Amino acid sequence: MESTLALVIHHANVNDVEIVRHYGVNLPDIEIDPTQIEQVFINLLVNACHAMPMGGRMTIVMRMDLERDLIVTTIEDTGHGISEDNLSRIFDPFFTTKNQELNGVAGTGLGLSVSYGIIENHGGQITVQSAVGQGTVFTVELPIVSLMSTADGQPSSEDNISTV
Ligand SMILES: Nc1ncnc2c1ncn2[C@@H]1O[C@H](COP(=O)(O)OP(=O)(O)O)[C@@H](O)[C@H]1O
Ligand SMILES: [Mg+2]
Repeated sequence: MESTLALVIHHANVNDVEIVRHYGVNLPDIEIDPTQIEQVFINLLVNACHAMPMGGRMTIVMRMDLERDLIVTTIEDTGHGISEDNLSRIFDPFFTTKNQELNGVAGTGLGLSVSYGIIENHGGQITVQSAVGQGTVFTVELPIVSLMSTADGQPSSEDNISTV
């Protein structure tokens, strides 16, 4: 998250987007593909900035859910929000509301669909809550015990670690 933030912090500053971070103490290391997870985070952070063209606040919380053995990351913005109609479509490939002529930003509509696949491959989940005119929260849950399988499709011995 920190290395991803470094990439968007300038963009956020220029757009009057305040960034608030709350990281839990002693968060454990988890097994992930760092490049892929960076791609997910950068898309969520840039989307949040795009939703606040007049500025606002982006709040990033990362915490451990011990009951469910998850690292939970929420990225919350105070942007324009997502209508109920669009909410069911934002994870579809090529769905975008960004139009170069309308709002000066062009979209591919691929960010969230790719992110969805990456998080699913990590055995996690990505969900969204939004209110028009108020803002949006994306939640990314990643398992502390990795469910990623090895290249041959077989679970690696490390995947079988059980917690007592
Ligand atoms: N934080 C957000 N606030 C408001 N709308 C959002 C947010 N994140 C995503 N969206 C909506 O979901 C759509 C799809 O997002 P994405 O897949 O990243 O594609 P793109 O950013 O290229 O449009 C966006 O066009 C936008 O309508
Ligand atoms: Mg995007």
